[in-house]
Amino acid sequence: MAEEKSFKYVIVGGGVAAGYAAREFSKQGLKPGELAIISREPVPPYERPALSKGYINLENKASLPGFYVCAGSGGEKQFPQWYKDNGIELLLDTEIVKADLASKTLVSGTGQVFKYQTLVAATGSSVTRLSDFGVEGADAKNIFYLRELLDADELVTAMNVKANGKAVVVGGGYIGLELSSALKVNNMEVTMVYPEPWCMPRLFTAGIASFYEGFYANKGINIVKGTVAAGFNTNSDGEVTEVILKDGRTLEADIVIVGVGARPIISLFKGQVDEDKGGLKTDAFFRTSVPDVYAVGDIATFPMKLYNEMRRVEHVDHARKSAEQAVKAIKAAEEGNSIPEYDYLPYFYSRAFNLSWQFYGDNVGETVLFGDNDPTSAKPKFGSFWIKDGKLIGAFLEGGNPDENKAIAKAAREQPVVESVEVLAKDGLSFVSNM
Ligand code: FDA
Ligand code: NAD
Repeated sequence: MAEEKSFKYVIVGGGVAAGYAAREFSKQGLKPGELAIISREPVPPYERPALSKGYINLENKASLPGFYVCAGSGGEKQFPQWYKDNGIELLLDTEIVKADLASKTLVSGTGQVFKYQTLVAATGSSVTRLSDFGVEGADAKNIFYLRELLDADELVTAMNVKANGKAVVVGGGYIGLELSSALKVNNMEVTMVYPEPWCMPRLFTAGIASFYEGFYANKGINIVKGTVAAGFNTNSDGEVTEVILKDGRTLEADIVIVGVGARPIISLFKGQVDEDKGGLKTDAFFRTSVPDVYAVGDIATFPMKLYNEMRRVEHVDHARKSAEQAVKAIKAAEEGNSIPEYDYLPYFYSRAFNLSWQFYGDNVGETVLFGDNDPTSAKPKFGSFWIKDGKLIGAFLEGGNPDENKAIAKAAREQPVVESVEVLAKDGLSFVSNM
């Protein structure tokens, strides 16, 4: 039996939030051996967004250590040596399979026991699988999901083996849109299939989506809407050859990529911690209902002060900021101090082809589309505002420059009064740029 290891602080999970939490711990002051990060991934924390962008671009591939945290926010890259220099124990390839919060004990898949005084849970999300919906044949070879580095490595290998072949992308959300672009850039013939009337319905309005659907179609991507993958045909090697759609049609496929959502990984803590909206319920300092246990990143359901509502956010900006907030709160509590409550402004972004959009705020209420959303324009620049109770509360912008993106963020935070929706539509960006 492996010897028991004890740490003052343990972060379980080694993704974005873990990496930023480690940086904050080191900024606040750490003694050697006080902090351990336990991750089932084989590499130190990295900026996960790179996996669906540079990392799978075969011509111009980003690689590690290029996107170790905190590269994504312009910070120092935390190489393995950084953890050593900071006295942080980085336990990789180590999956925690049991957490007993009452005795402050974690157990790994190989039976190693870890004790902690304070735990930061940062286990992120896992992909929703087609088998979760009962889709048959979804275990065929060359059907891929994308969450971790090893998933991306398998995908890169398959794209090389099936070069110039046919790819079907199941799902019209973030993964669907980013991966379709990457596959096309890698010279594959791409078909997207999703059930909704337009892509990314959880954020996009019909007006926003019509731009991206038109742009993708002009790039030669075939879009099949209003149906789902119901099964797969395979060859004698067990490799996928066709996607069978629910409406009876079939699509030829050398590889299939599935992006049908993600679920927070909270099974370790089930029955021990209060939950809310699918995540671990926290306060504005990311404290859970159990003393000395914090939850950050994708798994935290926290008070979104701006909207006076409990929310869970599956995006990188919040993963970074929630981690920093939790560590500041831990350190302040030790010194008998307090810190301000987390006051988060939602920020989501995506990049595909030569496109780039940002969104800030809340996407509820009436919407106004502005600018040039013609997918054939040489330099499209357009956006949308969301208005609720007479105030601008959300803003989306494709093709904005840094100042314009700052301006939409400021507006979403300050929520200016909108006197006339017609005037707002006509003014577009200048409404927020002049604030
Ligand atoms: P994250 O998933 O980063 O890390 C969780 C870690 O915990 C993983 O290393 C996992 O292996 C580990 N773990 C889980 N259970 C464990 C256990 N029992 N024992 C040990 N380790 C365990 N967002 C955005 O705003 N813009 C973007 O462009 C993108 N792009 C993007 C691309 C792709 C491919 C994905 C999958 C996701 C994005 N995101 C994104 C979302 C963003 O990456 C995500 O919200 C953050 O990574 C969440 O950070 P966490 O640290 O919470 O989880
Ligand atoms: P998502 O929620 O963005 O999209 C899921 C999509 O799945 C839906 O839009 C729908 O089109 C589709 N769908 C649902 N059921 C289906 C079915 N049975 N058959 C076919 N399609 C179906 O989730 P995702 O794109 O899988 O992303 C996974 C996670 O990764 C999320 O947490 C997301 O935030 C994160 N991510 C974020 C970014 C970004 O912020 N730029 C990029 C990549 C991934």
